[in-house]
Amino acid sequence: MIKLAPSVLAADFSCLGEEIKKVHENGAEYLHLDVMDGMFVPNISMGPGMIASIRKVSDIVFDVHLMIQDPIRYIDDFAKAGADIITFHYEACDNHREVIEKIHSHGIRAGMSVKPYTDANLMVPFLDELELALVMTVQPGFGGQKFMLEAMPNLEKLNAAIKASGREIDLEVDGGINLENAHIVKERGANVLVAGSAVFGAKDVAATVREFLK
Ligand code: DX5
Ligand code: ZN
Repeated sequence: MIKLAPSVLAADFSCLGEEIKKVHENGAEYLHLDVMDGMFVPNISMGPGMIASIRKVSDIVFDVHLMIQDPIRYIDDFAKAGADIITFHYEACDNHREVIEKIHSHGIRAGMSVKPYTDANLMVPFLDELELALVMTVQPGFGGQKFMLEAMPNLEKLNAAIKASGREIDLEVDGGINLENAHIVKERGANVLVAGSAVFGAKDVAATVREFLK
């Protein structure tokens, strides 16, 4: 079963409560929350305060994607803000096991991500402790970019490694996903599709969510 994770980055921040309600009611299971620090990526987005405030209006699964350097510094804050899943970048630290343990200490799910040109095999040794693996299909930092086919070998590698592990691990893709290319990632084993502009930029957001899930 495919899960859709609409990315708030492309939503209208002035009426986030309504935007979230619309996607949840139409079948989106996860809400993707992109956190950018202006260091790991050249952009700044939202912090734990904003996540805590939208936590009050929705019980959708909060899928927090940390694009921040040295993520261990902020795991406690994002867990307390209401994250259900926290994903950090392989490239952002060298204490991966510690970060995963810290996430798990809050009783929430841990995810790890690689940028398009990082070899996803580097993540394989950690699969025994992860609940989610995220393949970036654009360079992280901005919504609205073009999907990169170059990232497909990463998706294929992780799909094979997850199958071999025998564990239930979400395989998520993020960046430039739309109704036209969704089949490309689905065929390669992705079961969670992040979509920002394709969902919140659509004329009919509700219909687009339903279309994705078909
Ligand atoms: C990019 C973010 C994405 C982004 C996706 O750094 O991680 O989640 O919001 O947006 P679209 O779907 O517009 O590429
Ligand atoms: Zn993201």
